[in-house]
Amino acid sequence: MRLDKFFTSIGRLSRKECAAEARRGQISVNGDVQKDPSVHVDPERDTITHRGERITWEKHFYLMLNKPAGYISSTEKSDNTVMKLLPPEYEKAGCFPCGRLDVDTVGLLLITNDGDTAHKLLSPKRHVAKSYRFRCTEPLSDEMVKKLEEGVDLGDFTTAPAKLQLDSPREGIISITEGKFHQIKRMLAAVGSGIDYLERIKFGPLELDTSLSRGEWRRLSEDELKALLDVAG
Ligand code: URA
Repeated sequence: MRLDKFFTSIGRLSRKECAAEARRGQISVNGDVQKDPSVHVDPERDTITHRGERITWEKHFYLMLNKPAGYISSTEKSDNTVMKLLPPEYEKAGCFPCGRLDVDTVGLLLITNDGDTAHKLLSPKRHVAKSYRFRCTEPLSDEMVKKLEEGVDLGDFTTAPAKLQLDSPREGIISITEGKFHQIKRMLAAVGSGIDYLERIKFGPLELDTSLSRGEWRRLSEDELKALLDVAG
């Protein structure tokens, strides 16, 4: 891999910044100052330093964000994307939200630059379960719950059966294995209720870390990452 690619892939420097830093003698490879940003390095074996700091290579990043309301799950150029809640190096390293939560939905959002794993986790074939704490505008009758648990006809498709755990007639946890646009809102609307609170608390093996305030994030732990990669296969 080229030296400048090494720095851009971890979000540490842009190509231009890498060239400038190399020119200034701020980058070394295996103890020697390296002024040529196009030189090839082995990220797993070579010792690369920038301004005296050893830079370790990570191909992929996996972050858990507790998404607040008011942010869109996208990387487009706008001030209110979830990416703006993270240090800019993650976006520079190609990270993106794995799936979408609506602007008013809060909770667990996985952010990664591992496109392959994200694709597998989002594939309808994998049936990755997602659980949401919800509050709806109408009390759910047994009949409405039964419809949700059997699968609801949304016109363009019929949903797979959802699992429901109610804490009260208007509140509870709903789990689904699909991830269509506005799916839960559409499912509830189809049985006759609106939604006034939606928080994702589980995504596959990941559980929302409730020690994260809204807008806070952390890297996945090794165990979480292993479980996630196992599910992705
Ligand atoms: N279902 C929805 O309706 N909205 C979300 O954000 C997630 C699931």
